[in-house]
Amino acid sequence: MSAICLLDGSFLPLAEARVSPMDRGFLFGDGAYEVIPVYSRRPFRLDEHLGRLANTLAALELENPHDLATWQGLVKALIERNAWEDQSIYLQVTRGADSRRNHAFPEGVRPTVFMMSEALVTVPEAQRESGVAAITAADFRWLRCDLKTTALLANCLLRNAAVKAGCVEAILLRDGFLTEGSASNIFIVRDGVMTTPPKSHLMLPGITYDVVLELAEAYGQPFMVREILEDELRSADEIWMTSSTKEVLPVTRLDDRPVGDGRPGPVARRMMGWYQDYKTKVMRGG
Ligand code: PDD
Repeated sequence: MSAICLLDGSFLPLAEARVSPMDRGFLFGDGAYEVIPVYSRRPFRLDEHLGRLANTLAALELENPHDLATWQGLVKALIERNAWEDQSIYLQVTRGADSRRNHAFPEGVRPTVFMMSEALVTVPEAQRESGVAAITAADFRWLRCDLKTTALLANCLLRNAAVKAGCVEAILLRDGFLTEGSASNIFIVRDGVMTTPPKSHLMLPGITYDVVLELAEAYGQPFMVREILEDELRSADEIWMTSSTKEVLPVTRLDDRPVGDGRPGPVARRMMGWYQDYKTKVMRGG
């Protein structure tokens, strides 16, 4: 069965979906997006993802085309129309297609709403067991990294630099401080204390980041939310990345050097377990 997507209110096979080349998403990367994991046909933290989408749209001065209930209904309808039990829902809203190219926002143009589903590709068990390699890179993105916009060229360049170096992620440093990964948030552990940078305009407020902080609180795992110096990153006992698709993934090599003893550490192992337990509860309870 081919994937079904939603484009401007119609469900159709993904291969048949078409948008105008004048769409501002295509011309300017002028849009907002979300990636929502779905486990056993239940969207994970849907309202939080839709809340973040609303924040991004408001900051982009792009009117939210749907209220919360309509979004919830559309996401659920798309999940039903696709074959997989576990899915990754991608949704984006762009400012739509005007008749001419103009940087300033056009009046009276209808936003384009696109949503698609893919099979959720989870991290292979062997990779979770061994951890992954990362590089560090200078964070040369703009100063609104808190917005989840489709203008991702800097993130793509950074992620691609990691892949070219045989790594999974680029961990970003700005002015001597850790910000986040090219498509993930970063946590470190030193002397048993989990630490992550505070939300700011320099990083995306991750949904998984929030879950990890909640789990640390619930299970009594010591943690701090504060700025992290480059030196602290480099001398950390553990480093992990978090995202909707990677969940909690240990980074065991940084710039070709082992992190700690080069294996996922005890705090990462506990957190991965708590995360899986939490997911199971959500899948049972909705
Ligand atoms: N990216 N930081 C950046 C720059 C990201 O792109 C992402 C996620 C995260 C983690 O956010 P969350 O936990 O809400 O997934 C942090 C998604 C998965 C993507 O662009 O595919």
